Amino acid sequence: MADSTKPSLWSTLPDYAKEVTYDYEGHVFQKMISRSYIPDIMNFQVRPDDIFLITFPKSGTTWVQHIVCLILEDGTTSNLQDHLFLKAPFLEMPQSFSKETAEQPPGMYEVAKEKPSPRLMKTQLPMEFLPREIEEKKPKIVYVSRNPKDNAVSFFNFCSLTVNCPQYKVWSEFLHDFTRGAIPRGSWFDNVLSWWSKRDEPNLLFLKYEDLKKDLRASVIQISEFLERPLSEEAIDDIVMKSSFNAMKKNPKVNPDHSEASFKHALQGNRSFLRKGQVGDWKNYFTVAQNDAFDDLYERKMKGTGLTFDFTLD
Ligand code: A3P
Repeated sequence: MADSTKPSLWSTLPDYAKEVTYDYEGHVFQKMISRSYIPDIMNFQVRPDDIFLITFPKSGTTWVQHIVCLILEDGTTSNLQDHLFLKAPFLEMPQSFSKETAEQPPGMYEVAKEKPSPRLMKTQLPMEFLPREIEEKKPKIVYVSRNPKDNAVSFFNFCSLTVNCPQYKVWSEFLHDFTRGAIPRGSWFDNVLSWWSKRDEPNLLFLKYEDLKKDLRASVIQISEFLERPLSEEAIDDIVMKSSFNAMKKNPKVNPDHSEASFKHALQGNRSFLRKGQVGDWKNYFTVAQNDAFDDLYERKMKGTGLTFDFTLD
């Protein structure tokens, strides 16, 4: 709960960011996520055989979603009918982005309710707004994290790709709000550390984007073992091939730019969702001073947690 005596983070945002966001219990939420969705999602009925893919935005959600879908489809028999984005309801997203009606469309969690088991669902809500039954039903949770510098750069670029995010004019404006948790979905530190503290729970798999980059094959095996879906060597090879950055970019059934799902209507400009897919792109954005300040913050927040990230790969 937010301290009601303090001004909310949201109230400190610039006007252009306020236009597309609102305050919900101290968190900055995008207006496309209706206020009414949040209590509904917290009361969402969880099944023990559900699989939740949970991330902080831009940490490799789509990549791991594709891998999980391929594993659930036994690797070789990828369902070519549906776009990837239709295969796992994104709980807090609206079912459509149409601007033609002022009425708020229903949320994707309504779609998830009707899905047969086993359901794969994704969410980027902070832990406190997740379905309460997760604690009791203990579904499998795949959590994906990414080093915060690349995560921030990816998020900054994504914001200019969609009309539903604040349109930060310059990188420094975004970085300022990222470091104080004043962006949609809140603080990277709070999100990642809340899941890191649960890393030993048997129903949680805590992944790092950089580990997938280092050894995709090992990560595919790790995810399939966690999901208790053993794969043949052939299927593993096939999944590794299909989930490379280039293969995903070329595949219109996977690349979000080609999504027939409602998400497409929220995209603007000619940028690509699958932007660079690299570790270390942050070096092209952070100034020396920004980097020093961020390192200080990182040191303070991560001290004693045991969680480390690769910021570059050799
Ligand atoms: P960049 O913006 O750094 O390129 P999310 O799905 O959570 O929104 O994350 C998007 C980020 O994951 C983007 O990062 C995107 O390019 C990257 N990504 C998606 N698929 C990938 C893949 N197969 N390999 C590497 N990175 C991938």
